[in-house]
Amino acid sequence: MAFNHLASSHAIGLFDSGIGGLTVMREMIRLLPQENLLYLGDTARVPYGNKSAATIIRYSIENAIFLLEKQIKVLVVACNTASALALPKLKQLFHLPIIGVIEPGAKLAAATTRNKRIAVLGTKGTIESGAYQSAIHQLIPDAIIFPIACPLLVSLVEEGFLYHSASKLIIQEYLKNLEKADVDTILLGCTHYPLLKPLIEEIMGSSVTIIDSALTCAQTVKKLLESHQLVNSNQHAIHQYFVTDDPEKFRQLGEYLFQSPLPLVELHKIIHS
Ligand code: DGL
Repeated sequence: MAFNHLASSHAIGLFDSGIGGLTVMREMIRLLPQENLLYLGDTARVPYGNKSAATIIRYSIENAIFLLEKQIKVLVVACNTASALALPKLKQLFHLPIIGVIEPGAKLAAATTRNKRIAVLGTKGTIESGAYQSAIHQLIPDAIIFPIACPLLVSLVEEGFLYHSASKLIIQEYLKNLEKADVDTILLGCTHYPLLKPLIEEIMGSSVTIIDSALTCAQTVKKLLESHQLVNSNQHAIHQYFVTDDPEKFRQLGEYLFQSPLPLVELHKIIHS
């Protein structure tokens, strides 16, 4: 598809329900330091994971319109739930390259597993959509997948409970059925979960490889920019952050979770919620 109306100097837009998409933003900053990036965290409506497909599609369209009005050249859906439920609709409505996190995650899982036994952790919406299961089965038809919905984990991350004993107990409960599953790969199918990786590693031990789609998603974006001649040549990239509620809370939490300063976070007010 030709995208002649897009300019290389335009930003890449990303959205998530909240803070989790910053795990994707972090890899984008590392891999594409010259690119202007625009992040939207829909903090007024987080979590997405327990909501209906119709609602997630509506939120995703609204988020995309906000970013498109700011002239972006690529849209990254940095949320697994929105990627699982809204990607086809977004692709149908908007004429620009749109990249989700499911396909990059599935590719990495297929490249990582040796015994073809993979656990996928995600929100209720992501797991019930079957998006990861079918994306992995397309790559490895005889893969044995253990999908686990972990509805409480997004709230734990949004509360900053990364190393908390309560988080450990909850994760142990979610992962207890994996004891006999003999998986060699656990795919973190929610952009919030990489922040809980140290705890998950502690619980699962070193025989399992824990992966997520943030880096592979950034690599996919890089390839796409190159193939469409959309690489920005400017050396002074601008990173802008917007949220739909409480910018200061987002900034403080972001700085705590990622242990690095966040610039000004601006408020984008949603008119209907
Ligand atoms: N980061 C979103 C995801 O990847 C979280 C969903 C939620 O808000 O529940 O699915």
